[in-house]
Amino acid sequence: MFEKEVVSLNRKDQHVALANQQFSMESAKDFVQTRFVHQSLPELQVGDVCLQTSVAGLTMEMPFFINAMTGGSERTKLINQLLGIIGHLTKVPIASGSVSAALKDPSVADSFRILRGENPHGIIFANLGAHHDLENAKRAVDLLEADGLQLHLNAPQELVMREGDRDFSMWLKNIEAIVRGIEVPVIVKEVGFGMSRETVARLASVGVKTVDISGTGGTDFVLIENIRRGGDGYPLLNGWGQSTVISLVEAMSLPAEGRPEIIASGGIKNELDIIKSLALGAELVGISNRILQLVQNNQNIDRAIYEVRRLEERVAEMMVLVGAKNIAELRQKDLILGPDVQAWCTAREIDWKQYANRSMKYL
Ligand code: FNR
Repeated sequence: MFEKEVVSLNRKDQHVALANQQFSMESAKDFVQTRFVHQSLPELQVGDVCLQTSVAGLTMEMPFFINAMTGGSERTKLINQLLGIIGHLTKVPIASGSVSAALKDPSVADSFRILRGENPHGIIFANLGAHHDLENAKRAVDLLEADGLQLHLNAPQELVMREGDRDFSMWLKNIEAIVRGIEVPVIVKEVGFGMSRETVARLASVGVKTVDISGTGGTDFVLIENIRRGGDGYPLLNGWGQSTVISLVEAMSLPAEGRPEIIASGGIKNELDIIKSLALGAELVGISNRILQLVQNNQNIDRAIYEVRRLEERVAEMMVLVGAKNIAELRQKDLILGPDVQAWCTAREIDWKQYANRSMKYL
C-alpha cells in the first residue's frame, strides 16, 4: 500500500498497512547471532517431544501464540475473524488488539468480539493500555470472555503520536490496582521496545506474575507512528529499545525467586527464533506481524492454518535437533550469544558464558 492511501485510513487500519510494509521474513540480528552448539547425537525422536507449556495458570499445547494486533474497524474485524478461525482450528492462543476503541465506541465492539465468536472455547487474552483503570480492565475481559488480560506499555509510541499520551505517571499504580482487583491472570507486555531487568523487577514488586518483554527486531511502532505523523516526528527514535534476546537475558538475570514468568515476543519469524527464545528462558513465545502476513496478503485461511500447524511441527523437529524433549530440557542446552549481546551483558554485569556451558552439568 502506498503512503497516500495509508493516510486516508483510520488509525487501526493504518497500523496494519504500515506493519505490513515493514515486515521482513528474515530473523532479527540478535536471533541469527544466537547459536546453539550442535550436538551430533540427539538421542530422541520427534514423537518424544512434548511442546506443552503453562503460562498465567493456563496450559497450552504449543509454546507459541498469536500476540496482540487489531480490531476497531471493518477491515480489522475481518482480520480478527480469520484469527478466530485459526485459533479455533489449531488451538493456538490469541490476544486481541487493544479494546480501548470498543470501550469508547460500542459500535466497534463486534470487531473484537468476533475473535470469541469464532473461537468459543479457545484461549483468548484481551488487551488494553496501562492508562486504563480497573473498571475498564473488567469491561475488556467481559467483552471477550477472556481467559486473561494483557496490559501494554508503549511510552515511545505514545510520544511519537501527536494525539498520544504525555502522562505515564499512573501506569504502575493502575497495573497494581488491576492485578489486585481482577479475577483473570494479567500479563504486562511491551509492544516491541523490549524491557530491562529493572522494569521487570518493578512490575514484580506490584504483584505482576507474567511479563511479555516484547523486544525490538520486528514491528517498530516508533517507525509506524513517525510515518503516520508525516514529518516533524522523531526519526532518531526509530529502532529505540532492547532486542528480544537482550530483553530475555536482562529478565533472566533477576533472581529466580520472585521473578515473573517470561513471555518472549518481538521479531519472531520462525521455529528457530521460537526455540532460541524458549532456551533463553521464555515460557511462551508471541508472534504478531508474521501471522498478520498470513491473514492479510493471503486471505487463504487453509494456507494460514497449514502454516501454523507446520510451525508447530517444525518447533518439535528443531527441538529434536538440539536434543530437547521438552521446554525444561531446552534450557539446559548450550547457546553462544552474539557479540552485541555479549557486549551488552558485559556492560550490565550479566554472565553470558553461563548460557554456553549449561549442558555439561546434566551429563
Ligand atoms: C501490534 N501490537 C500491539 N500490542 C498491543 O499490546 N496492543 C495493540 O493493540 C497492538 N496493536 C498492534 C497492531 C499491529 C498491526 C501489530 C503488527 C502489532 C504489538 C504486538 O503485540 C507486538 O508486541 C509487536 O508487534 C512485536 O511483535 P512482532 O510484530 O515483531 O511479531
